[in-house]
Amino acid sequence: MVKAAVLGASGGIGQPLSLLLKISPLIDELALYDVVNTPGVAADLSHISSVANLKGYLPKDDGLEHALTGADIVVIPAGIPRKPGMTRDDLFKVNAGIVQTLINGIVKFCPEAFILIISNPVNSTVPIAAEILQDAGVFNPRHLFGVTTLDVVRAETFVQEYSGERDPSKAKIPVVGGHSGETIVPLFSQANPALDIPADKYDALVHRVQFGGDEVVAAKDGTGSATLSMAFAGFRFAESVIKAFKGEMGIVEPTFIYLPGVPHGAAIAKATGVDFFSVPVELGADGASMAIDILGSATKKEKELLDISIKGLKGNIEKGIEFVKNAP
Ligand code: NAI
Repeated sequence: MVKAAVLGASGGIGQPLSLLLKISPLIDELALYDVVNTPGVAADLSHISSVANLKGYLPKDDGLEHALTGADIVVIPAGIPRKPGMTRDDLFKVNAGIVQTLINGIVKFCPEAFILIISNPVNSTVPIAAEILQDAGVFNPRHLFGVTTLDVVRAETFVQEYSGERDPSKAKIPVVGGHSGETIVPLFSQANPALDIPADKYDALVHRVQFGGDEVVAAKDGTGSATLSMAFAGFRFAESVIKAFKGEMGIVEPTFIYLPGVPHGAAIAKATGVDFFSVPVELGADGASMAIDILGSATKKEKELLDISIKGLKGNIEKGIEFVKNAP
């Protein structure tokens, strides 16, 4: 039996993500939590004739406790999204506090669950979560994931003309680093099957993967950021975690993790100088069972991109850790 909880379930991402989780045969029980509108979203989704038994919760009547108790996997898309002109870091002030509250709930009610953080800035919200879990003595680094799958999904889509795949998801492209602008590094040299990207198209392609989110923010013209593609990406990652939990072998997904706590991650942390980084991770019944080091095979150009990413990430990570350290 698998229980999944979505925190921020009434939002632009939360609703379509909850729909996908509701229709997944892998989930037996689905809890939807938000500070608003969950009764309506839950009533609506509960009429779908699929396996998962679904309930909605608000903060009143110990809603967070009921949503989280017994959860095996918690997906967190709670928090404000970007408007045109904003960076993900501009969201920090509001979203850091939201993530803090929700992780405190996880500490109390389901400390062993897999935690998938979508709320931005992921480069800082994941370190916030790690720090809180660590302080509470319940941190299992194999269970904490920053969801960077949308960057992978975008890379697969944007290279379709070079991959020649009818189904773009068949092209495996590792995207590493962080989840904002120049911290995102697609490693096209490691694509499988191999890609032949014309030299004069390479920079534009890298830029599009790094700043693809801005295209959506601009097109939505002040009403938010990626929600539907993010729901797809969040579902794809959640499904991978659940499949591995249920015993399926050989599932690998890039995700933003605490490297020193995951097998083979310490060497990557040493080489990069950062403890939090997105790398391809082999998933298992215990969560992140192994970090896969592919950075050494990066091209010269990719190494330059990695240096820029690491510089940016250091500040983002520090900001998250400081937030928890300075909390009253
Ligand atoms: P939204 O504003 O449509 O939805 C956010 C939801 O969170 C709202 O329903 C709100 O009521 C809820 N919420 C606020 N405080 C809460 C709390 N304390 N507990 C529970 N729920 C709470 O925003 P949207 O578009 O769904 O985006 C959500 C987050 O996901 C944003 O931070 C956004 O930047 C991030 N995001 C991350 C991506 C990624 O690749 N990791 C991609 C796109 C967005």
